[in-house]
Amino acid sequence: MKIHEVIITTCDKNCNHHIAPMGINIIDNKVIIKPFKPSKTLDNLKESKCAIVNFIDDVRVFAGIVTGIKREWSLEKVSDNKVMRLKDANAHFTLKVKAETEDKVRPEISCEIIDRKTYKPFLGFNRAQFSVIEAAVLVSRLGRLPMKKIHEEIEYLKIGLDKTAGNIELEAWSWIEEKIRSFEIEHDA
Ligand SMILES: Cc1cc2nc3c(=O)[nH]c(=O)nc-3n(C[C@H](O)[C@H](O)[C@H](O)COP(=O)(O)O)c2cc1C
Repeated sequence: MKIHEVIITTCDKNCNHHIAPMGINIIDNKVIIKPFKPSKTLDNLKESKCAIVNFIDDVRVFAGIVTGIKREWSLEKVSDNKVMRLKDANAHFTLKVKAETEDKVRPEISCEIIDRKTYKPFLGFNRAQFSVIEAAVLVSRLGRLPMKKIHEEIEYLKIGLDKTAGNIELEAWSWIEEKIRSFEIEHDA
């Protein structure tokens, strides 16, 4: 099933906000989120029963969060919703949790789209953005994938990055490289 890489914003009952990259399925008026256990996103979805899907082409948000180098991003209130959206999102969906399929590893949270807003136009595909997203997925699997595979994939992804990146993608890429370096030093990999 087609997966869209997005940023999910959620909050707990005390309105503490949480921002996390997730791959979601969009089927008509429904979104399926599949957070691994344990995760703050899963806890918040269960607790507050709402979320916002942020569609954003600033790939630093993905890289910043998975590397832990920049976890905080500007948020903006969406009418009277408890959950806030990313201020720089191109568009967002507001979600209401409708059902949960329990699973030991990765439950499926099925949500209804109750509102949609668009702020910025789609400006075409960019290979460097793709490279950063792929590299962010690799970073989220550090410790689980062999380092040889990570280095081979990073080398390939750098081709598209070098040819097409702007400053935003270059900054995101520098965080990815920094995280891989520090992981190797910490784990003597
Ligand atoms: C592009 C991308 C897609 C991701 N998709 C998922 C996902 O579908 N489910 C998940 O649990 N984690 C996913 N991750 C990893 C999470 O973003 C990361 O583990 C995050 O810390 C989630 O845990 P949290 O809710 O506790 O912050 C993805 C990461 C990236 C970069």
